[in-house]
Amino acid sequence: MISVSDYREQARKKIPHFLFEYIDGGSVSESTLRANRRDLERISLRQRVLKDVRDINTELDLFGTTYSMPVVLGPVGIAGLNARRGEVQAARAAEENNVPFAMSTVSLCSVEEVAGSVRDPMWFQLYMAKDRVFLKELLKRVQNTGCEILLLTADLPVVGTRYRDVRSGLTRCDGLPCQLWRLLQILARPSWVWDVGIMGGPHNLGNLVPLMGSDAGLKDFLAWTDENFDPSATWDDISFVRENWSGKIIVKGLLDPEDASQAIKCGVDGIVVSNHGGRQLDGAPSTAKALPGIADRVAGTVPILVDGGISSGTDIIRMLALGADAVLIGRAWVYALAAAGHRGVNQVLHLLKEELRIAMALTGHTKPSMIDRNTLIDKH
Ligand SMILES: Cc1cc2nc3c(=O)[nH]c(=O)nc-3n(C[C@H](O)[C@H](O)[C@H](O)COP(=O)(O)O)c2cc1C
Repeated sequence: MISVSDYREQARKKIPHFLFEYIDGGSVSESTLRANRRDLERISLRQRVLKDVRDINTELDLFGTTYSMPVVLGPVGIAGLNARRGEVQAARAAEENNVPFAMSTVSLCSVEEVAGSVRDPMWFQLYMAKDRVFLKELLKRVQNTGCEILLLTADLPVVGTRYRDVRSGLTRCDGLPCQLWRLLQILARPSWVWDVGIMGGPHNLGNLVPLMGSDAGLKDFLAWTDENFDPSATWDDISFVRENWSGKIIVKGLLDPEDASQAIKCGVDGIVVSNHGGRQLDGAPSTAKALPGIADRVAGTVPILVDGGISSGTDIIRMLALGADAVLIGRAWVYALAAAGHRGVNQVLHLLKEELRIAMALTGHTKPSMIDRNTLIDKH
């Protein structure tokens, strides 16, 4: 396996069909999911020559830490189901490559389990839940692990409509025929049954156990998350988070320059331009399209991160050229985790770094901060 698309195909063979479809799919007609890739691929980079590119340094300083490259493993819910204690394996690979691992609220492993298996503090992603007492407790737990960077996801007041999950039997699967169909999908992946099903327990959402008890099944946990995302959340809730969190707050899920300005007014420390990997509003713009307008509005105030469809070093350069300081990857690392566990995530991070280094050389840049709109054929 030598590229992210190879890991994707291997993941398809390794994990049950409904789990693969959960990772791979988007909302409704998946037009935004496709646009994320299509619009990135359409961006032409300027090839420059004879620029002395012997000493290329991909490192980046972000929120007071120097990372090996401008890449973050973005938060992905129930990623831990793709390999035994999957979030632990991914966090270890992130640490070995000196990039941040952002853990989802709805992870299989608890924040304590992941933090206890790595030395570097991770980043944590928070969903605004209706139960504010629970949120306060959770933020305390996260802070006790030494975590200082909170991604506050704002683009999920309600869960997007995801037809693939229904067709595959992941959701709305109450009747016997559907349950048998799901069981067959599981039995068709014996190595996953052994690695995750038998050896990889407990199968609950670790961060929610204090709320629901360890006896609750995965289905109960997922029902809780569906019912408890808070559709009444507003910008005023940033102050609730600020009161209960002493570290940095980065709002994730912005696509509109006005929302970006509002976020800055609320005093956040960073933003993530994101359409949740095309899983929320189908018909929303790709992030490659949304990013330049947001960068024009708020560049220089706080770091701008972006995600959506990034699967190569050239994609990273494209996003930096459009105005991002760093990128998050979602599916790219999860396919790798499903395909080959910790080793897979490690390899994907290696290949992204190597591709980034080569793309920097061929565009005539020796450090990420040199990359800007002049790197592009069309200036956007
Ligand atoms: C299966 C899956 C689960 C996700 N779960 C979360 C989550 O729990 N919290 C969150 O903020 N974003 C979540 N996201 C969105 C990612 O953080 C990220 O925005 C998106 O995956 C980026 O697009 P990409 O997958 O094309 O790289 C999820 C994405 C996927 C694919």
